[in-house]
Amino acid sequence: MRLLYLLLLISIISCKTNPEKPIDIETKPEPVLGVVEKNAMVVSAREEASKIGRDILKKGGNVFDAMVATEMALAVSYPYAGNLGGGGFMVYRKANGETGAIDYREKAPLAAFKDMYLDKNGDPIPEKSQLGSMAVGVPGTIAGIFEVHQKFGTLSIKELLTPVVQLAENGYVITEKQEKRLQHFKELFIETNNDTILYAKTYKALDTIKNPMLAATLNRIIKNGRDEFYKGETGQKIVDYIQSKGGVITMEDLNKYEAKWRDPVQFTYKNLNVISMSPPSSGGVCLAQIMKMIEPYDLSTYGHNTLKSIQIITEAERRAYADRSFYLGDPDFVKIPIDTLISDAYLSGRMNDFNLEKATLSSDLSYGSIPGYESSETTHYSIIDQFGNAISVTTTLNGAYGSKLYVPELGFFLNNEMDDFSAKPGTPNMFGLLGAEANAIAPEKRMLSSMTPTLVEKDGELWMSVGTPGGSTIITSVLQTILNVKEYEMTMQDAVNAPRFHHQWLPDVVIFEPDSFDKNVLDSLKLKGYKTNEEETRVIGKVDGILVLPDGSLEGGADKRGDDTAIGF
Ligand code: DON
Repeated sequence: MRLLYLLLLISIISCKTNPEKPIDIETKPEPVLGVVEKNAMVVSAREEASKIGRDILKKGGNVFDAMVATEMALAVSYPYAGNLGGGGFMVYRKANGETGAIDYREKAPLAAFKDMYLDKNGDPIPEKSQLGSMAVGVPGTIAGIFEVHQKFGTLSIKELLTPVVQLAENGYVITEKQEKRLQHFKELFIETNNDTILYAKTYKALDTIKNPMLAATLNRIIKNGRDEFYKGETGQKIVDYIQSKGGVITMEDLNKYEAKWRDPVQFTYKNLNVISMSPPSSGGVCLAQIMKMIEPYDLSTYGHNTLKSIQIITEAERRAYADRSFYLGDPDFVKIPIDTLISDAYLSGRMNDFNLEKATLSSDLSYGSIPGYESSETTHYSIIDQFGNAISVTTTLNGAYGSKLYVPELGFFLNNEMDDFSAKPGTPNMFGLLGAEANAIAPEKRMLSSMTPTLVEKDGELWMSVGTPGGSTIITSVLQTILNVKEYEMTMQDAVNAPRFHHQWLPDVVIFEPDSFDKNVLDSLKLKGYKTNEEETRVIGKVDGILVLPDGSLEGGADKRGDDTAIGF
């Protein structure tokens, strides 16, 4: 046995892989299956949140009831990204096949203006759009959950939020990852607020954090509904705190906020029908563009993360992100030629100049021409209920703990989503993304997002719910996860864990998760003119997903990169 192991080890070490060929099937690790359950599944960034969502389903609630509870449970136990002070998007598919989406994205305050983050020389001041009161967009999360509840909920808000209040009162246990993050950001919390706020203390793994202020806020929301946040005492406290720190959000901004139902972007990829988020997120449009551009290539034959597969995916990503930066923004403010952008005719033309011998240079590529056109924190959760309804939800404060501005009397952080606007055309935001006029700042406009909550049907039946945080890498992480299952036949768990790479047109570099790609493949890419980067420490996505298995049971895939947990029944 030992000898066999040794021989195998030697053969692996001495094996010179051919970058053109998929890694030999015999060296492939055994597939890892995630949590499998018969009836229902919740996968989210925190065990407490998945558990609360699952309990709501067990009680007879549907996926939308579970959404309300899970979203708020993440706000308590995952303040890094879970929120009352941020926004998000949800895509749904009901058991009868009906689909839809809700946009509860933050928007610019009435006092916002195009050059608000530029200094007197016209240069961007990144801190201003990223840290503190001026970075905050008008929050949408509470409007979002109430809108969802009003349209589809079956249990009362009190039933849904009581377990969340209990979680805030009794506390949640800090994980090692959380300890590191809280430690890392502590100085910024103190600088932005003061040293008396809850998160200015030093916490260690296994400590319990109780948040009575947030419990009180949630209790008022249970009592007074949505208006508590947008018109009531809570709203007034948000405005007072932001203004005391020099910000410009007013009660009028909160009063005027509305979540919006949107038509999701839908497209086919082979025998899949993909349902994803429409603008003001770029997620669905970019995902559609990339998948349509790669559809003619036989990725399953080329193999997972082989030279050819990486090249094809990278080149499609390059072209989609170039279009993103020019065409996409808030659809209530700019005309977006979505149908053309995701049409076969347009996309086949976009790949005309692609060739496998040599990388296209991003400097040689711009957005495609369309006749007649004028012109890092987030968290994701997926839920499928026992009735066959499915949702995919991504919600965010933008950066880690958002603007770091924490309203002490209310117990939560406020977003820094204003940085997702293009502060100045041609100048990158915190994710290195470029924007143009379509994503310029204007009062009440929603900033362009990359969030890509996605549902996938296979042969007309529900097949997958998937999504991730990761700023600009969200779209490409969702893409690779779908391909991992569809083309490379991975389990949901393996698909979310698999090493990822990312390209976004500019900067003209392909980033790879460190120490997880074949060195021969990376060398060959360099020879073909690709600039590669394995040093990047930022994680490429933290994907959560659910796969409907052939026998109808559900496999939860919770990304190993986080504390994510799948719980079902
Ligand atoms: O909406 C967006 O695209 C960004 N605000 C998302 C931020 C994010 O994913 C940060 N997480 N790593």
